Amino acid sequence: MSDPISQASALDFADAGFRADPYPVYRHLRDAAPVTYHEPSDAWLVARHEDVHRTLRDERRFSNGSGSRADPVVAVVGAGDLLNLDPPRHDVLRRIVRAPFAPPAVAELERALRAQVERLVAPLADAGAGDLAADVAWPLPVWTMLRLLGAPEADVPRVTALVRALDQPGGVALDELRRLRRYVEETMETTDEGLVADVVAASAAGELTREEGAGLVMGLLLAGTATVACLIANGALVLLRHPRQRQRLRDGSVTPAMTVEELLRFESPVQVLPRRTTVPVTLGGSTIPADATVLLLLGSANRDERRFVHADALDLGRRARGAVALGGGIHFCLGAALARLEGRVAFERIFRDLGPLELAGEPERLPSADVRGLLRLPVRKARS
Ligand code: HEM
Repeated sequence: MSDPISQASALDFADAGFRADPYPVYRHLRDAAPVTYHEPSDAWLVARHEDVHRTLRDERRFSNGSGSRADPVVAVVGAGDLLNLDPPRHDVLRRIVRAPFAPPAVAELERALRAQVERLVAPLADAGAGDLAADVAWPLPVWTMLRLLGAPEADVPRVTALVRALDQPGGVALDELRRLRRYVEETMETTDEGLVADVVAASAAGELTREEGAGLVMGLLLAGTATVACLIANGALVLLRHPRQRQRLRDGSVTPAMTVEELLRFESPVQVLPRRTTVPVTLGGSTIPADATVLLLLGSANRDERRFVHADALDLGRRARGAVALGGGIHFCLGAALARLEGRVAFERIFRDLGPLELAGEPERLPSADVRGLLRLPVRKARS
């Protein structure tokens, strides 16, 4: 057997087999090379929960901003994306958009979300078959984000198509990303509602530039759509494959909220988060030089048996705390309450109330190692 470091370097994030099931590789890294240099991506991989957790809370030594401007994706998204900012600018911009994501504000959306899930699920309920990913999981968060942003509902199909096409085998589709960015700019010109209007007003008041405003809105739209789509689609597939766990949800012995927490841990939509070291850092026994890229493997941290008992088993009743699926520290997911609500409402309707479902074809995976999810998930009502 070759040494752990060369095995780590053999890891190919683009490999379809790895994307289908990255967990054995993650396990190997946690055991043999918990913090290791990965030559193909010129980055340091961090695989254990303890190290990922600590790094997320160390924004001084692990920057979200420095060094990323040369990245073409960052260049298109724009300067105001919270994910690519460090304090103090990060904190100023986050304050401008945080109010509608506070749990009480999010709770007010519940009724409208339920009605929307109902509309999306209705064709499947009537026909007895459909695609849970394409027809429910993707349009739902796009509808939700456009509503929050103050964009017209009529835009949902167009924006859903763009968002679904962003991840391509070779990386992010820059044409689609540019189209989405133009869409954001147009919306800033035309709407006087929602978060977009708040951002335009803040830029008129001199709190941020218009360019930052467009990046900020773009960042929200990106962060709040594919992630939730993947939570719902991954969760649906996992529940279809674990009938006994699904039964616990149906008979009420676990709640939809517990289901969401365990699914976030078990199949984390965001698998990898990048950071950049500002100084040399010793982590997990390795010394990472300054100005190096660090990839935090959230999907691995959430399966770390040092942190979670029987980490590779799905247990909807586990009530484990500490999963890092939504990040941690100053960049902790701004949309956490919204993501949880969307997941809860979707799983309740699909798995508790809709009756037994079964797979009706091969699911199609999103071609990305950073975001774990599905583009297609054909299902039909089970005969039993
Ligand atoms: C940040 C995951 C849903 C908005 C993050 C981070 C993670 C994450 C891991 C941390 C990024 C970092 O530390 O670099 C998820 C998952 C979701 C989800 C798994 C769904 C299941 C949402 C939703 C929104 C949203 C619905 C709504 C807009 C954001 C924003 C940030 C963020 C704006 C950046 C916050 C900052 O940098 O201060 N999310 N997210 N997310 N999320 Fe989410």
